Amino acid sequence: MPKVKRIAVMTSGGDCQAMNSVVRAVVLAARKYNIETVGIMDGFYGMTYRRPGDFRVLRAEDVENIISRGGTILNSARFDEFRQESVIKTAAKNMKEEGIEALVVAGGDGSFRGGLDLLKYSNIPIIGIPSTIDNDITSTEYTLGFDTALRNTIEMADALRDTCNSHKRCNVIEVMGRNCGQIALMTAIAVGASGVAIPEAPEAFDVDRTIDRMIEARKRGKRSFLVVFAEGAVNTRLTDDEKKATLDAAAESYLADRISGRDLAMIADENYISAFGEQFRTRLQRRSREEFSKYYAETGDIHFKDEYIETKFARFAHVARGGSPTVYDRVTASRMGELAVDLIAAKRGNRCICVHDGRITSMDMWDAINVDSVYRRYRKTGVHDSEAIAKLSPLQKKLYDYRVKLNESLIRSAAALSEI
Ligand code: F6P
Repeated sequence: MPKVKRIAVMTSGGDCQAMNSVVRAVVLAARKYNIETVGIMDGFYGMTYRRPGDFRVLRAEDVENIISRGGTILNSARFDEFRQESVIKTAAKNMKEEGIEALVVAGGDGSFRGGLDLLKYSNIPIIGIPSTIDNDITSTEYTLGFDTALRNTIEMADALRDTCNSHKRCNVIEVMGRNCGQIALMTAIAVGASGVAIPEAPEAFDVDRTIDRMIEARKRGKRSFLVVFAEGAVNTRLTDDEKKATLDAAAESYLADRISGRDLAMIADENYISAFGEQFRTRLQRRSREEFSKYYAETGDIHFKDEYIETKFARFAHVARGGSPTVYDRVTASRMGELAVDLIAAKRGNRCICVHDGRITSMDMWDAINVDSVYRRYRKTGVHDSEAIAKLSPLQKKLYDYRVKLNESLIRSAAALSEI
C-alpha cells in the first residue's frame, strides 16, 4: 500500500479555543510519517474558492507558539452553500488538484457531514475532531472548547456574584447553547445558581415557582441570586394566543389610561420582546415588588419597606468562545490531533475522534453522525424514536443512553443544589 504523503487540516463552523492545538498537533505528528500538512483557510469556503494562499503548507515553525492561543490561525467559516452538489464538486476537484490524500476537520456535526459529502465526490478520507464549546456531539463525551468556555463563564459569573451580594441583587446570566444546555447546567451547578433554564427540557424551569422560592429566600435573608439561561431556552409558560391576548388587553388598558406606558412596555417585554432571561428579569422585579409590598402591609416589618429583588441581566455570548485554552483542552486537542494522523497513516479514514469512558479513541464517522441525528431528534421532540434506537449498534446505544442520562442527572443535581 503506498504511503500517505500529503494531508490537509482545517477548522470549520463556530470556532473554539483548542482549534490551534489541533492544527499544531496534526502538523507535528505528521512529521513522524514524513507526511506534509497543508492548512486550508476559512474551512469549506477556502476549499471551494481556493483563493491564493487558501491552501498553504504548514511547517513546524508555522505552528510554534499557537498552543496557548484561542481562535484559529486557519480561520473558520460557516458555509451553508456546501450542501449544493456543484459547490462540493468544485471543492473535491480543488482537493485532488492540490494532491490532498486525507483531510482532518476540527468542527461540529455540520462540518463532519460536509466532510462526508466531500468524500462522495473525491474519495478523500476524512477524520473529524469534535470541536465546539457546546459539548453537544452525541458520539463523544467531550468536545473541545467546553472546558475553556466553562472556565470563562464561571469566572464572569463569580464576579457578578460578588457585586450582586454587595448590592442585594439578582443577576440573570445568559450563556451560549442554542440547542444544548450543557454549558448552562454546568455553570448553574458550579456557581450555586438559584435556577437554570435549558432548551432541551423547558418543563424543568418553572418561572413562577422559581420566583416564589426566591421571594421566600429573600424573606429568610438571602441577599444575592444568580439564575442561568441557555440562549436557546424558551418560555413555554404561555401559548402564543395567550401572550397575544395579554398584550391586547394591556394595550387597551393603556389607551383607556388605566396603566402607564412603562407598565405596557413591561408587559410587552415579558411576553414578546426579549429573550427568556430578560423576560424573567422583568417578571421577577415586578412580582417581587408586588409581593413585598403586600408582605410589608401585613407584617409592618421595616426591612421589607420598598423591598424587591433588583435584577440585572448579562449576556456572556461569544466571550465564552475566546481566550487561552485550559490545560485539559490543550492536552485533549493535542492527543486528538495526533490520533487523527496515526489513523490516516494506518489508512483508517472516515472516523470521528471521540472520548469514550474518559479515553481518547475513534469511531466510524457514519455511525457517529447517525447516533447524533437520533439523539438530536429526541432533543427536539422529547420523544425517543424506538424504531431508530432499535437499529443502533451496542456502542451507539451506549452513547445515546449516556447523553439522555447525563442530562437528566445534571438537571436533577442543579435542582437539588439550587440556592433557594
Ligand atoms: O459554538 C456553538 C455556539 O456557541 C452556539 O451555542 C451558538 O448558538 C452559536 O455557536 C453561535 O455562533 P455564531 O454566532 O458564531 O454563529
